[in-house]
Amino acid sequence: MQKGEMLANGKAKSVYKTDEPKKLIMHFRNDTSAFDGEKIEQLDRKGMVNNKFNAFIMQRLEEGGIPTHFEKVISEDESVVKNLDMLPIECVVRNISTGSLCKRLGVAEGLDLEPPLFEFFLKNDELHDPMINDFHIISFKWATQDEIEKMKELTFKVNDILKKLFLDAGIILVDYKLEFGRYDGKLLLGDEFSPDGCRLWDVNTREKLDKDRFRQGLGGVVEAYEAVAERLGIAI
Ligand code: C5P
Repeated sequence: MQKGEMLANGKAKSVYKTDEPKKLIMHFRNDTSAFDGEKIEQLDRKGMVNNKFNAFIMQRLEEGGIPTHFEKVISEDESVVKNLDMLPIECVVRNISTGSLCKRLGVAEGLDLEPPLFEFFLKNDELHDPMINDFHIISFKWATQDEIEKMKELTFKVNDILKKLFLDAGIILVDYKLEFGRYDGKLLLGDEFSPDGCRLWDVNTREKLDKDRFRQGLGGVVEAYEAVAERLGIAI
């Protein structure tokens, strides 16, 4: 497979065309950003760790019946994925209250959310990813009603699979963000699943093992990602 021109350059990943129109190469960079790109740093090894982490999780999700764009790892920090028509929507599920939920609603941190909360956000940095609901999505034709139902169904199914996977490794899946796209008339999970896009706490100490370490300047960011990978049995 030949790597072609760059199609998109995001805050932490770049996507390249290939000689196969339905396949893309996703490059996980060391760039780490927070606060809609206001804070950016290069973290050694992060691209490599996230590439392997994402591959492992996408494979577990496929085995659990979630259709994803993931095809295969082709280098330390690159994977081949299907070329999706991405929806401009972020799907967030929360098992414990923290982050923007607490700021927005003034609720206490660390509450168990049973049943888990589901929220949609519009993917738009300039507008700081505002929260939206099903009606915005339909009115502005960002997705169809069927796609809305599918996003909710798949995002909750991901929660069932990953909550257990992480808990078996002594880690609480606090919350996470997923993005979906269209491919041959079907909705597939796209983007990535790594500690950059979820919150992971040690089950005993509640130590943060995710990108909040970067957001809050706690240090040891990639070391925490590697510790999670090791506990999951991912070869880094
Ligand atoms: O900031 P907030 O509390 O809404 O984030 C909820 C979850 O979604 C967190 O795990 C965060 O890492 C993830 N997220 C993300 N990308 C965004 C917004 C949130 O990965 N643009």
